[in-house]
Amino acid sequence: MIASEPLVVAVPKGRILGEARPLLAAAGIKPESAFDDPDSRALSFATALPSVRLIRVRSFDVATFVAFGAAHLGIAGNDVLMEFDYQEIYAPLDLRIGRCRLAVAEPKALSEADDPAQWSHIRIATKYPQVTRRHFARRGVQAECIKLNGALELAPTLGLCRRIVDLVSTGATLRANGLVEVERIAEVSARLIVNRAALKTRPRDILPFVERMREAVDANAA
Ligand code: PRP
Repeated sequence: MIASEPLVVAVPKGRILGEARPLLAAAGIKPESAFDDPDSRALSFATALPSVRLIRVRSFDVATFVAFGAAHLGIAGNDVLMEFDYQEIYAPLDLRIGRCRLAVAEPKALSEADDPAQWSHIRIATKYPQVTRRHFARRGVQAECIKLNGALELAPTLGLCRRIVDLVSTGATLRANGLVEVERIAEVSARLIVNRAALKTRPRDILPFVERMREAVDANAA
């Protein structure tokens, strides 16, 4: 019999990863030392469990790797899941980390005279064009989205557009750029995600992992 390939778990670079590490460790996933070596160019890492490898990719790409089955599991915010709406992804567990919100923001001066109920057509800079269009279409507002991949808060200052849809956590980035939140689109937190086909073919590998993560989340919340 051929031994199963290792399970591949995709984790996002950036802020969520710091909060996810203790949960992964509690589930037995401790990556090799190269994972924490800033000089290493490695992207795929062995872990203390021979049956599990970690890959570290951009947050949006976690969903893509998992949706196409290139990774079996991953950690992704529901912001990313809402944007892609991949049917191949099952999200069984809220990890209760990476909490923030997806919100509409605009310059403070504009907000003082602005009435969102009067909007019929707006131009918005965002990493989330699908979510943004859907959100505004629901109330009959046409949102023309300009896709940016970061530093969105610069867009109003430099005249690219007057409004943005972005993640807000502490609000410090908005404040530093003279913007205020005018509408909330969704509460966000990180989820454990699973490729549906992999779950069907390898339930005995994947379900215990999901359960260990669930226990780690419960212990973290207690
Ligand atoms: C996110 C987001 C905002 C910022 C909000 O960016 O896009 O810019 O965090 O956080 P705050 O409300 O606590 O200031 P991130 O730092 O993740 O980097 P990115 O712009 O590269 O996505």
